[in-house]
Amino acid sequence: MIANIGNISYPLYIEKGALDTVGEKIAEKFPSAKVVIITDDKVFSLYGKRVEDSINAQGTEVNSIILEQGEESKSLATLEHVFDKLIEYETSRTDIIAALGGGVIGDLAGFAASCYLRGINYVQIPTTLLAQVDSSIGGKTAVNLKQGKNLAGAFYHPSMVIIDPDASETLDDENFACGMAEVIKYAFIMDKDLYGILNKYNSRSKIQPVLSDVIKKCCEDKLKVVQRDEKDNGLRLTLNFGHTLGHALEKNQELNLSHGHAVAIGMAVFTKNSEKLGQTKQGTYDQVISLLKSFHLPIDMPEADMQKTFEYAKRDKKTFNAKLKLILLEEIGKCFICPIDYEELHKYI
Ligand SMILES: NC(=O)c1ccc[n+]([C@@H]2O[C@H](COP(=O)([O-])OP(=O)(O)OC[C@H]3O[C@@H](n4cnc5c(N)ncnc54)[C@H](O)[C@@H]3O)[C@@H](O)[C@H]2O)c1
Ligand SMILES: [Zn+2]
Repeated sequence: MIANIGNISYPLYIEKGALDTVGEKIAEKFPSAKVVIITDDKVFSLYGKRVEDSINAQGTEVNSIILEQGEESKSLATLEHVFDKLIEYETSRTDIIAALGGGVIGDLAGFAASCYLRGINYVQIPTTLLAQVDSSIGGKTAVNLKQGKNLAGAFYHPSMVIIDPDASETLDDENFACGMAEVIKYAFIMDKDLYGILNKYNSRSKIQPVLSDVIKKCCEDKLKVVQRDEKDNGLRLTLNFGHTLGHALEKNQELNLSHGHAVAIGMAVFTKNSEKLGQTKQGTYDQVISLLKSFHLPIDMPEADMQKTFEYAKRDKKTFNAKLKLILLEEIGKCFICPIDYEELHKYI
């Protein structure tokens, strides 16, 4: 597949076993570049050697920067460490960064690539389902600041995305479900066809054999949206379905909810209420919760301090303006943007 965004165009490979052909693919496009892999310890132990070997096999020099797994690594301190290592490996402007890992690595390595020597090429090799269907596409890169998530970053597209659907086989159930929440999101907001597929293959074991096709559909969907709204001013907001409430729940640390679980609750709760308010076709809520449940995703509001949740939802960085822009379903496969005043938020939660 070729991703065309604005005047940028790059190949996006979705191939079983692609981790063994990373070297070939990079050498074909960047014949004389050295490669620096940025990854985390968990991913390196699973796939690092395979990817390094495939790059070495091309006679290409490769070094790896191995970070600690987890969201804490998406920080300015880690970024500085990455810059130190890039200098140590004498990485020049014509060399390549390869981001091998989940969204944490993709966001951090992409941001490092955007500003190291004022920008060098990078390749996304996403290994979580979430990164394969969401974070590796669209060019958003970032690190977290102590004041909040993703507050420093850049729009900076990769030169290539290499997805090996088999990589998700080693994910734990929690991370697999997190990725599925985003997959299901595309089905709900824009892809009835995908909804049909998910309903048919409605468990982790059933979907594994068709995962390549599912990932491909999600990438096409995200590209469609990003192509029409590269800088996040309008349509791209629709990808935020489930996220206004989801982010608020995620920020409430007492709840200890993962991103995917929080988004699943966000999608279910808003649809329940928009259907009650007559904005969503009757029966949609039942379809929503039935699919979420089949992938072991939660659907009900947890016992939470509601005032805190409202405050967090209001402060979501995508809602800086006075009006909140809610994403609601018209029906399965169709959504719309519903601007509301903050005071009306309780109707949806
Ligand atoms: N840039 C974007 O558009 C965008 C979109 C959505 C999310 N994000 C960001 O993505 C991050 C979350 O991404 P994530 O969920 O991939 O988290 P992650 O990168 O922390 O990965 C989750 C865990 O899975 C492990 N892992 C990765 N691949 C594995 C594999 N194949 N097998 C077994 N374990 C594996 C990792 O070591 C980690 O412990 C957040 O920081 C979020 O802000 C960015
Ligand atoms: Zn998300």
